[in-house]
Amino acid sequence: MFHHHAIHAGARLAAVAALLLLAFAGPASAHGDRPPPAAADSAVTANPSGWLQTSTPSGRIDTGNPFFASLGSNGRSCDSCHRQAEGWTISAAEVRERFRQSNGTDPIFALVDGAVSPLADVSSVYARRIAYAMLLKRGVLRIGMPMPAHAEFKLTAVDDPYGYASARELSLFRRPLPATNLIWDTAVMWDGRETFAPFKPPMDAGIDIGDIDASLASQARDAILGHEQAGKVPDASVIDRIVEFESHLFTAQMVDRQAGQLNEDGGMGGASILAQQRFWVGINDTLDNDPTGEPFDPRAMRLFDSWNDPRASLSRDPRDRARAAIARGEQLFNHMPIDISGVAGLNDVTGVPVIHGSCSSCHNAPNIGNHSVALPVNIGIADASRRTPDLPLYTLTRYSTGEVVRTTDPGLAMLTGKWADIGKFKGPILRGLAARAPYFHNGAAATLMDVVDFYDSRFDIGMSARQKSDLVAFLSAL
Ligand code: HEC
Ligand code: HEC
Repeated sequence: MFHHHAIHAGARLAAVAALLLLAFAGPASAHGDRPPPAAADSAVTANPSGWLQTSTPSGRIDTGNPFFASLGSNGRSCDSCHRQAEGWTISAAEVRERFRQSNGTDPIFALVDGAVSPLADVSSVYARRIAYAMLLKRGVLRIGMPMPAHAEFKLTAVDDPYGYASARELSLFRRPLPATNLIWDTAVMWDGRETFAPFKPPMDAGIDIGDIDASLASQARDAILGHEQAGKVPDASVIDRIVEFESHLFTAQMVDRQAGQLNEDGGMGGASILAQQRFWVGINDTLDNDPTGEPFDPRAMRLFDSWNDPRASLSRDPRDRARAAIARGEQLFNHMPIDISGVAGLNDVTGVPVIHGSCSSCHNAPNIGNHSVALPVNIGIADASRRTPDLPLYTLTRYSTGEVVRTTDPGLAMLTGKWADIGKFKGPILRGLAARAPYFHNGAAATLMDVVDFYDSRFDIGMSARQKSDLVAFLSAL
């Protein structure tokens, strides 16, 4: 069964790749601030560390697709929260700019899920700045979800700075996920709740490629009814066109301000190369569950192997040094030892209290960076210990034992009602990162350096300043 799907995916990708090669044929030599001439079109957008590329089979972005149309009652479209230049999500910086230009009346600023509470005062610019503070600061939307029925735990206390959340509706502040590179998603949404897997609970066994379109269709329907506040379910043809559009987008950083063109001199960056990436559900699985039987290889990222030249670190050319830093960062991602402990979904499932791994133990899908099977894990982002005063805090009590956990977001447990699933989220696809700060499900990390600092302290790695900046250089080039 898996082989069949792998072949199917391969054929689909080969067709896409052939079209892309046509679209992107031609010289690609520019580097630095200017976009490369071969792609000086709507497919390339600027961001703080360079230029982002989105590839499509036709070579252009079809803005006539209903993805860009307002389909509900509040003026929003998918494009309100999934923007090309921000890696098909939003960045907090761009949302602040939108607020400034519209005095907080752009459709993204809607009470339903844009504000800290649906009852917030939005009657003046001043009031709107307070009501939309979380969107402006962290680029997060308020996902309202009721406590799950028949859960193993109950909600025993709520500390919501905005005075709204209750068991009827928890306020969960979450970042939009990129609506690109979706053919490699193994779980749809942070908690996998839109993953269409008829015989399996969400995020247990992952999705196979035949199911991704069904998952995305369900997701799009819910987004139109929820985020866009449509009164009725949209036509199937509209949903089909949206899914067709978003599932043929491939996005990656293409030019780095310091390192130049990321697909030069053996570099494998950029979206055209990404679109040809080999993938099947379970590829390079850390727990050796790859259906093809290939063993796990920690070298999940192989984009900048050719730049791995120790002499370049001493070069007079700043571009050579920048490339060397990216290559060192990639090595760190693959090999820097991390003692993984206390991660629900990993240490408990394997029965191994300390897993000697690396970043690629969890981000294992080759050159894509998500989990190649749906692997919901709790790395601690929603822990009470990391709670900041702007986030609600929920106290959950387990019926059977009286145990208590405090969390800012129960994650997967909101779907399954399972105590063991509290705080579990998927590891997202790691391409196009530079365009879409902040990071993690609740936008807790303002920068990629903050992401690296989180891992350094969470797993007690003891990274040097140079290791940190190398890793950031690599992540920025994805
Ligand atoms: C108001 C903002 C908003 C609008 C409008 C919106 N989304 Fe989203 N989108 C989000 C948020 C927030 C999430 C993550 C929610 C979660 O995981 O709990 C998300 C997640 C997704 C995902 C999941 C990606 C993944 O890797 O799991 C897809 C696909 C997506 N949206 C597509 C769409 C489409 C298509 C539309 C239009 C029909 C749309 N969105 C409209 C905010 C929005
Ligand atoms: C134990 C598994 C695990 C390990 C090890 C791990 N990650 Fe993650 N990573 C995750 C999960 C799960 C998330 C999402 C967590 C959340 O938002 O709650 C994540 C999120 C991220 C994000 C944010 C992506 C986004 O779109 O917001 C980045 C960047 C990242 N990881 C990089 C790294 C790097 C670099 C390392 C090594 C230093 C690493 N990860 C090690 C599981 C892991």
